[in-house]
Amino acid sequence: MRDITKAFNGTFANKNINLHVSSGEVLGLLGENGAGKTTLMNILYGLYRPDSGSVLINGEDVRIRNPHESMNLGIGMIHQHFMLVDNHSVLENIALGFPDSPFFFPDRFIRKKINTFSEKYGLYIDPDKQIWELSAGEQQRVEILKALFLESDLLIMDEPTSVLTPQESIDLFSIIRRMKDEGHSVILISHKLDEIMANCSRVTVLRKGETVGDSAISDVDERSLSRMMVGRDIILTFEKKPLPRGKEVLNVENLHVISDRGLETVNNVSFTVHENEIFGIAGVSGNGQRELIETITGLRKARSGNVSLFGSSILNKSPRVINNRGVTHVPEERIRFGIVPNLLIYENAVLKHHHSHPFSSIMFLDYEAVKGHAKDIIEKFSVSAPSINVPMKSLSGGNIQKLIVGREINNKPPLLVASHPTYGLDVGATEYIRKQLLQRREEGGAVLIVSEDLEELVGLCDRVGVMFKGRFTGIVDPSTTRLEDIGLLMTGIEAGEDS
Ligand SMILES: Nc1ncnc2c1ncn2[C@@H]1O[C@H](COP(=O)(O)OP(=O)(O)OP(=O)(O)O)[C@@H](O)[C@H]1O
Ligand SMILES: [Mg+2]
Repeated sequence: MRDITKAFNGTFANKNINLHVSSGEVLGLLGENGAGKTTLMNILYGLYRPDSGSVLINGEDVRIRNPHESMNLGIGMIHQHFMLVDNHSVLENIALGFPDSPFFFPDRFIRKKINTFSEKYGLYIDPDKQIWELSAGEQQRVEILKALFLESDLLIMDEPTSVLTPQESIDLFSIIRRMKDEGHSVILISHKLDEIMANCSRVTVLRKGETVGDSAISDVDERSLSRMMVGRDIILTFEKKPLPRGKEVLNVENLHVISDRGLETVNNVSFTVHENEIFGIAGVSGNGQRELIETITGLRKARSGNVSLFGSSILNKSPRVINNRGVTHVPEERIRFGIVPNLLIYENAVLKHHHSHPFSSIMFLDYEAVKGHAKDIIEKFSVSAPSINVPMKSLSGGNIQKLIVGREINNKPPLLVASHPTYGLDVGATEYIRKQLLQRREEGGAVLIVSEDLEELVGLCDRVGVMFKGRFTGIVDPSTTRLEDIGLLMTGIEAGEDS
């Protein structure tokens, strides 16, 4: 890609960017949230047209006008946000993107191919599940399978690992290595610098839409990379003060929840979360975490058991009632449940509070108050946005996440429930959000987080409940438990059992 420039409403997302990748090479593409990575890759994939600059494939100048043309040129892309059809099955979604199905019994053919690929790459997924039933991690597996099916020469992966478990990431990287050995090229976007260091041979760094680095991986380290990206040193550490556990805020008792498929997905789960405490839920995605969180926040009904807040039951109350009682929620899937993409940024900043003081009086919204609030969040959480008057969907992935976390944490909720709080955030933003969570804890807030990042859970949490097949296989104190033991609990092996 030569001298690529692309502006949105007069603001440069890409400015004279140069990027090249050879066959058999894994190129890391790095940069802060909003640096222009996705925009550049969308240009390569034919979703956006550059204002100027050129794209050359095997030395030949090409005009890529749409994804169909890029696929024909051998380019595949796994998008940062899932591009799946919700009310179709896994099998149907994969078939949709696959041009070479036979005319007769295409589903039998695709099913067989899914089985072969899942086994070969260790990406297990039930082909008959509907997409809306899947967790984010499971949906990511479908996206990866879809891309593998096409066997592209060049595969673009826009943050493929942000919702994967450590084991799933390891599997993905062995897939990438295999592709590389077969002569394919991969462009990998990730905010996890250790992943970039371990799997790429070269790295291109963007900053505010411009190329600021292009180096062999042997010439850089994590520290120099983060300095290139943000212009200062960032060392991710957790400064968690020892604090006595406060009053009980949330009490979940013998909770049983049924999944969308009618199976018991939360099986007799009990735990409490207290003031001055961060409670973490660990586990491979798809083990009931999502349904548990949905039940606590009112999005799903429980079959039996109880959930109470400060001693009074909130079980099966509506999300609005639960929210009014002081529970805020950063959902797992930002785009579907965290925002309304077509509404403006300032409108998104007051979702859930738009109907109450000070944003609304009886019938009318007070736009001054709403806009002031939006500006406040944007400033505090350094959301990079051209203005508050643009649709939410024009923000970069990480900036959408910053706005949601900001909105949910800003008015100091007694209980903050956050799924994957730092998913998709760059190192600087990750550091900031973790500090905010720890600050909530110090101020007396209760925080419940779900994450697959064990390091994050261990660093932030006072206690961690490990979920496997709907049950808690253990509730541990991470300061005295080995990571390996948490890992074992995640696979269902409980303490005292022989492995
Ligand atoms: N469709 C669009 N309309 C308007 N502005 C856009 C659009 N797409 C991207 N932008 C702007 O371009 C800039 C770069 O966004 P981009 O999504 O490329 O960032 P990114 O590097 O992928 O960040 P992240 O790590 O958060 O995903 C941002 O300021 C964003 O607001
Ligand atoms: Mg992006």
